[in-house]
Amino acid sequence: MGISIKQLHEHFVGEVSGIDLRQPLTPEQAREIHEGMDRYGILVFHDQDLSDQEQVDFTKNFGELELAIGSNVLKDDQRRLRLEMADVSNLDQNGKVLARDDRRRMFNLGNRLWHSDSSFRVTPSKFSLLSCRSEPPKGGNTEFAFMPAAYEALDDETKAEIEDLITEHSLIHSRGKLGFEEFSAEEKQTFAPVRHALVRQNAFTGRKSIYLSAHIGTIIGWQVPEARDFIRELSEHATQRRFVHSHEWRLGDLVMWDNRQNMHRVRPFRDTGVVRDMRRTTVAGEGPTAAQAEDRAA
Ligand code: OGA
Ligand code: MN
Repeated sequence: MGISIKQLHEHFVGEVSGIDLRQPLTPEQAREIHEGMDRYGILVFHDQDLSDQEQVDFTKNFGELELAIGSNVLKDDQRRLRLEMADVSNLDQNGKVLARDDRRRMFNLGNRLWHSDSSFRVTPSKFSLLSCRSEPPKGGNTEFAFMPAAYEALDDETKAEIEDLITEHSLIHSRGKLGFEEFSAEEKQTFAPVRHALVRQNAFTGRKSIYLSAHIGTIIGWQVPEARDFIRELSEHATQRRFVHSHEWRLGDLVMWDNRQNMHRVRPFRDTGVVRDMRRTTVAGEGPTAAQAEDRAA
């Protein structure tokens, strides 16, 4: 039986059936999934009981893996998972729920802001694959907003205005929005801002999208307050409920999204009381989206 994909939302999101992700993909299956990602932006797979290695192997069908380095305030001896996996759980290296006032928890609260993964990197990520490894708590849905539909709903004047704009992204900007402002000298260097195009185009569908993220701190050549106000307005437009799908997790779900075409955020849950074990693999992007500042090599 071949793969079939059922669209779950007016604009995007495909639910995939007829595939066991623990088995190696045929080239035909890999092509169908890749095309599904271009077309639907998000694919949902249910009942996939994956090991970390199986998740990594599946992810490699779609490009180079992005390692979970330079994206968190974890110290080397605080990692629970291997470098190929971003730990999106609420757990420490021993599998214990992070204390309420833990600095790592404060940093991770940034995932509740609309963002696109790794937009703080010179080469931002292409796909993220998030696997649900524990019985989900109440709340904790992950929401997705589809940026091609948001782009197409802009008026022509706004489309023209944003066409060539370049934005600056950093984890320092996104965490600063929640008042997380104390970074070590080393973290400041790791999280130094990068530049990205505000409008991107999908090579397969030809559709343009707005490349927004909580990591944006300014627009190059603009005064900061005007840039932040403008980005806030665009983000409000882009995250209207008509462009949003909310994923309610089930144990064994794997959700795969295209960071070039979506923003996402996790909704609140009682994260100091229950385990939420979520593990992410990430496919690296193909290159920078814009030239970098002269003091930062691409
Ligand atoms: C992520 C992320 C949201 C969640 O994995 O990149 O933002 O639901 N996760 O935990
Ligand atoms: Mn994320």
